[in-house]
Amino acid sequence: MVPNTLHDDERASLFYDAISKHKNLPGPLMPTLQDAQRIFGCVSLDIQKIIAKELKESIAKINGVVTFYSQFSLTPKGKNTISVCLGTACYVKGSQGILDAFTDELKIKNGETTKDGMYTLEATRCIGACGLAPVFCINERVCGRANVQKAKTMLQSNPTSHESHDHSED
Ligand code: FES
Repeated sequence: MVPNTLHDDERASLFYDAISKHKNLPGPLMPTLQDAQRIFGCVSLDIQKIIAKELKESIAKINGVVTFYSQFSLTPKGKNTISVCLGTACYVKGSQGILDAFTDELKIKNGETTKDGMYTLEATRCIGACGLAPVFCINERVCGRANVQKAKTMLQSNPTSHESHDHSED
C-alpha cells in the first residue's frame, strides 16, 4: 500500500528511481536518504519504512541516521529554517534563551514548523562559529553575537533581507 506521504505519483516515481539507482552501489543509505529529503522535503517514518525494505536495513538504523544528521527532517521543513546553536560556547552565552524566544514568538517547539510553513525551528550542535557566540542561523546566514532582541527583530523583518553576519570564525 502506498503511504500518505507518497500520494504524489511523480514524487513517488522519482523516489523509487533513486532507490533503484542507489541500491546496488556500495553505501546506498546516505544518498537514498538525501534524495528522499530532496524529493519530499522530509524523511518521514513511512518513507523510512520503504527505504528499510528496499535496502534491507533496519528501521532503527535508518531512524538513527535521520535523527542524527540535521540535513534530514521527519516532517517537511518550512520555507525558512532557523537554527539556534546549543553548543557549549553558545549555550554559556545564553543561546537557550534565544531558542526560547523563537519558541514563544513562533509558537512552535524545537523541530517543528509553523502552520503557515514559513519557519522551521531547530536546535543544533556547534556550527564552528564559536567566536561569534551565541549564534543562530536563518537558512544559510549566520547571525552572531545574538540575543533575544536580535532574534525578535529578525522575525519582524524579511528573513531574506535582514542584516546578519555572513561569516564564521573559529
Ligand atoms: S558552540 Fe555555537 S558555534 Fe560553536
